[in-house]
Amino acid sequence: MSLNLANLTAKDILAMNYNELISVVRETNRPPGGVSSVSHLATRAHLTKDSHVLEIGTSTGITAIELARLVGCRITAIDINERSIQEARRRAEALGVAHLITFEVNDATSTGYPEDSFDLVFCGNVTSLIPDQKAALAEYSRVVRPGGFIAAIPMYYVKTPSKKLLADVTEAIQVTVEPLEEQYWLDFFLGDGRISFHQDKYTFDWISDEVVDGFVKDILTRPHLDELSAKARAALVEQYSVFMRLFRDNLSQMGYTELLVRCEVDELGEPELFTASPVGVQR
Ligand SMILES: C[S@@+](CC[C@H](N)C(=O)[O-])C[C@H]1O[C@@H](n2cnc3c(N)ncnc32)[C@H](O)[C@@H]1O
Repeated sequence: MSLNLANLTAKDILAMNYNELISVVRETNRPPGGVSSVSHLATRAHLTKDSHVLEIGTSTGITAIELARLVGCRITAIDINERSIQEARRRAEALGVAHLITFEVNDATSTGYPEDSFDLVFCGNVTSLIPDQKAALAEYSRVVRPGGFIAAIPMYYVKTPSKKLLADVTEAIQVTVEPLEEQYWLDFFLGDGRISFHQDKYTFDWISDEVVDGFVKDILTRPHLDELSAKARAALVEQYSVFMRLFRDNLSQMGYTELLVRCEVDELGEPELFTASPVGVQR
């Protein structure tokens, strides 16, 4: 399962898409806004030590690990990628929170968990990558208890991207990238008895070439990469820089929302008519 880096040639590396390359680099796959988004949503979902969270698409485990560190609750964290789950387990053990987290290879659209089993389903920016998005949302709603929450951090375009940018990102991540706007995700997550509990919007900062290049230089000094030949290493620097600059260009057109929805129909009351928005935010 683990990659033999010593056998990789420069040609192999230059032929890799981003998903393959991050297994080589062991990059941390964060939700938008990183641990700060995780902290905001954990607080707003009123998690306690007794809570049980299902995390979808955990990748290298950062959200599950941070929830364990912040709250000390139980977390079941799933991903379809076995290599990511192995790395997530390694990181949770290193940080002393493995006893709180069950990492499993499992599919978001049919988890097999009993209904009403979780207080929170945390799906970060994962649902856009799942071909049958409706089946995934139906599964989150099935396994969350009545009155429990779904936390999502969907990313969307705040400026119109060029066709070339969309095509380049699609090729890099091997998932068709659509120029979706925020409303698409609000319409998707709300309805069917799910009501908006919290929404916080962000736009990504512009990161200069200098900062991107410094990040690439630092991350490629990781000791495990010493196994690569000099030529393969040079190819890795080249290919990884291309991807990081591409993602920088793409994210500079994008924003995300920390979204918390509650799964409940209030059968005793009518819907709220006089809603309000934070000053400076237009809904
Ligand atoms: C962008 S990363 C997620 C990063 C971060 N955990 C977040 O919340 O945004 C997307 C992850 O979702 C996983 N994934 C894609 N389809 C999935 C599915 N059907 N079920 C579970 N995980 C899936 C991928 O393997 C990948 O690790």
